[in-house]
Formats: sequence, structure tokens, C-alpha cells
Amino acid sequence: MDMDKLVSLCKRRGFLFQSSEIYGGLNGFWDYGPLGVELKRNIKEAWWRDMVTGHDDLAAPPGAGEPYEMVGLDCTIIMHPQVWKVSGHYDLFCDYMVDCKESKKRYRFDQIRGRWMEFTARNLHLLHGAEERINEIKAKQWFYIATNAETPEAGLEDTIARACKIFGLRRAKAENLLDWETPNLVGLDKDDDLTQVVGPDASREGTLTTPREFNLMFKTVIGALGGEEDVAFLRPETAQGIFVNFKNVCDSTRVRVPFGIAQMGKSFRNEITPRNFTFRSREFEQMEIEFFCHPKSSPQWYQYWRDRRVKWYTDLGLAGERLRLREHDKEELSHYSCGTSDIEYAFPFLPPGEFGELEGIAHRGDFDLRSHMEGKLVAKDGQLIVELSEDGKPKWKGSGKDLSYRDDLTNERFIPHVIEPSAGADRGTLAFLCEAYHEDQAPDEKGEMQTRVVMQFHPRIAPIKVAVFPLVKKDGMPEIAQRIYRALKPHMTAFYDEKGAVGRRYRRQDEAGTPYCLTIDGQTLTDGTVTVRDRDSLKQERIHEKELIAALRERIQA
Ligand code: GAP
Repeated sequence: MDMDKLVSLCKRRGFLFQSSEIYGGLNGFWDYGPLGVELKRNIKEAWWRDMVTGHDDLAAPPGAGEPYEMVGLDCTIIMHPQVWKVSGHYDLFCDYMVDCKESKKRYRFDQIRGRWMEFTARNLHLLHGAEERINEIKAKQWFYIATNAETPEAGLEDTIARACKIFGLRRAKAENLLDWETPNLVGLDKDDDLTQVVGPDASREGTLTTPREFNLMFKTVIGALGGEEDVAFLRPETAQGIFVNFKNVCDSTRVRVPFGIAQMGKSFRNEITPRNFTFRSREFEQMEIEFFCHPKSSPQWYQYWRDRRVKWYTDLGLAGERLRLREHDKEELSHYSCGTSDIEYAFPFLPPGEFGELEGIAHRGDFDLRSHMEGKLVAKDGQLIVELSEDGKPKWKGSGKDLSYRDDLTNERFIPHVIEPSAGADRGTLAFLCEAYHEDQAPDEKGEMQTRVVMQFHPRIAPIKVAVFPLVKKDGMPEIAQRIYRALKPHMTAFYDEKGAVGRRYRRQDEAGTPYCLTIDGQTLTDGTVTVRDRDSLKQERIHEKELIAALRERIQA
């Protein structure tokens, strides 16, 4: 799928706009248009319903060892600054960045990709007449040439062209470059000598500064006076709001371990290089669950949540080879994690074979609750201990509150372990948009086959569920169509359209991803049935007006 086509459809049909576009836009910020807002709300509502309100607290779902409860929470975006010190975000939530002195652009160091190119010029010497030749290396130079190209093929062309310029070669002599057939772009390693690196937008080597740390949390100031002690942060994840309310939820709801707390809401990260449409934004929404369980059963719960969350995406239409679950290698795990997997999607803007993270499912042990009790923890000799300052006191003090749990049946007291399925609502929305985009052939008003763009959303998340058309604007058809539209409205998102040829109205709804279009025609006037057209199969059937609501509700699972 061509990403440019999707980006253009998103703007043209009102799924996504660049934030503050009339002022030139703001990098890393996106607005959802009239269709986009419905799509994203439907995805969030499906998540909330499937994970929280629709969850049966009394029966063990398939794959779970026992029943569990789920409750929700809605915390503030700005929290006590100590939360982020204790959680580790204040000290550790950083990316390495480099600046380019020539282009004045800034890059995330781990995202710089390119190729090492070597140029060897040789002198030919004739010995003993023309029989023997010796190659003497006259000059040998090598550079790492970084590129902004998304695919290795495009990156190769770009690199060869820039390498020829840098080495002073004509393009026809490009075969003198070594390594120019390296199939993949390679990441620039942290230890490499940057003096031989040509930045992605630079024309010469050595313009990149040494990598330095950059904290991703947005700072703000509380109150009118606003001194250094009033600095606060916009939350970079919703999870911490759940941990600091663990005791409140236990005390106010009588939930018993195992149970989960869900929260969705905005998070903010000052990403160095926001990119790939909404994939890496600076303001985005997360849908997170913190699932509290007994340490002994936590490995089983980790397995359960991995499978449960993959199933959620597949049930909503992200099936097939583009979706995968990837278990992290031991080296990739955070120091406190006993297991983490990512649910990943092969976004079309990524090079073939590469996947981007949609959701992480992490076994976090007792790290978070202990941190908020004792203070910021660090790993030492395989144990988590409170990090101390030079004066021997905790570097960042915890709340001192007891966040352990007492099982009132067994009387056992323990600190629950946490399984965290953490999803991005915007990344999910982007994946559903990519998956939905299809082009096929369908007849136009004159019966001629034309390329049709159709967004094949699962009906549950489609922004509009049903569109209602009178075939013509006469013979009482608009009146019946409006009556049907009004009857459908309380049950599902319905759209009324009487403008233009009916074929064109169908096309517009196909692009919006509307699964069903109803047409009120001459036959409706005589037998009360309307045509129901299926967006994907293009099949049409007649359903009586009186049966419409039930028939449509069953089809869209509303
Ligand atoms: N509490 C754990 C946590 O926040 P994360 O992997 O940093 O984990 C979870 O984020 C999810 O949030 C990601 O899988 C992704 O879907 C979404 N996310 C993270 N950063 C994002 C960004 N800059 N733009 C859009 N979505 C983002």
C-alpha cells in the first residue's frame, strides 16, 4: 500500500489534519477530523468495553486461570513531580540526540541509518613491458553516509550519488566505491567516530555533534510565581497514575487480587524526531492496563495478557502477516522485567520486513509499587535496591505509604506483581487505517469499471455505520429516507445524503469506510423494503424497513 495515498485520503476525507495547519503546522502534533474522531473514539470505546465494562468478573475467560475484576481510572495529566523522580523517568527517560552543524537539523542518534562507503584509487604500474601490472593504492578513504530514505533501495541511490560527490567521482565511476551493494541500511553505532560521518542532510563529513542526552518529558510550571521548585511535567505515560492510586482503588472498591485497573488518556513526549504520520507524535493517547496479581501466578498472567491482547487486534481486523507478537530477548528487557513482548504491525512506511510497535505487554514484577513505597530503585547483583545519593540517603524518596496487599482469605501479605499491556490509541488508529485501505474495481454510474478506493474497517470501528440515500429527490423518497435515518440515529452513527448521482454517493461512503448503504427506491414505495448494499462484497439485498435496525445491529455488532 502506498502511504502517500493514505495520507492524502486522510486529509481529503477528514480523518487526520496536521495540527495548526493554517500556521504552517506543528511537528509531531495531529488533529482528528470529523471521520477520524469517530474512528478513534470507536477504537477507544471497543478497548474500554472489551477490557473493562464488558468484562465478566465472575467467570474465568478462556486462557485465564481464574476470574478477575477490572475497574477504570481517570487521573490527571500533571502529577506530583516526585512521581517521575521515583519512577525513573526524571533520570532515565532520555534519548540520545545529535545536531548537524551544517543543516541545523536534530536527529535521534539511534535512528541514523546509512552505509559505510569506501573509495580506493589505484595507480597502475607497468613492469617488464606490458606483462605484469602492480596495483598500488594511491588513496583510500571511507565515510559513513547517513540517509533520510525510508527503503534500502532508495537509500542506496541517494548514498551513491552523495558518495560520488564527496569522493569527487563521476557517477559512471561509481564501481570504484566499495560496499555500495550492501543490501541494508545500517544504524550508526554509539562508539563510531563521528568525524567520518556525513549527516543525513549534510554535504560533507564531520558536521554531527557528539550524542547527548535529552529528557523527553515536557516541562511546565505550576502557579503564577513559577520558580524552579514549581516545575512539573506533563505525564509521558498514563501508567504511573494507576500505581499511585493502587491503594485508593483497593480501599474504595473491595477488589481482590488478581484484578486490573485500566486508564486511557493523553500522554506527552518531546520526541526528538517525530515522524511517520502519527506513529511517533509528541502528544498521543495511551490505553493502559496495570494488572495486579500474586507473584507466583504472574508468569501465567503474563502469557494470558499477551494472547488476550493479540486476539483483540485480530478480532477487530488486524489479521494476517502484518501483525505479529515479538518476545523481547533477555538483553532487551528492563532490569526489573521478567518478560516483555511487543505486538507489532508492518506499517507500510517501514522498509519491507520491518515492524513497528503497537502495544507492549510487560511483566514488571513489583518494581512500580515498591518504587512508590521505598524510592527510586536500581538493580544491584540481581536485586532491586533503593538508589542512594552520595550522602547515603535515598536519591529520590518514595511515598512511604504501605502499598502491600493482604489477602483476607489466606491472610498472606505481599506486594502484587504487575502485568502491563500498554497500547497506543493513535498508533492503533493508524494501523487500522493502513489495514483498511484497499483499491479494487467497481462499476460506476454508467456501468463502467473504475478503480474504487474503499476503507474496509471492521464495522465496529467504522466512523459511520450506515448511510441512507433516497434514489431520487422526488416521489416521496426523501421523506421515507429521512424517516429511516431518524429511526436509525439513536442506535448507530447514520449519515443522510441526497446530493448527486447515487453511484457517487456510494463512492464517498466507500472512502469513509461505511459498511452499509441503504437506498430508498421505487420498490420501497410499494413493499416497504430498502436496498442494503454491502461495502466489501457490493452485494445488495432487500430488507423491510421494520427489520432494518435489528438486521444492521447484528451485522455491525453495535
Ligand atoms: N507504560 C509503558 C509505556 O508507556 P511505551 O512502550 O513507552 O510503554 C506504550 O508506550 C505505547 O504507547 C506504545 O506501544 C505506543 O503504541 C504508544 N506510544 C509511545 N510513544 C508514542 C509516540 N511518541 N507517539 C504515538 N504513540 C506512542
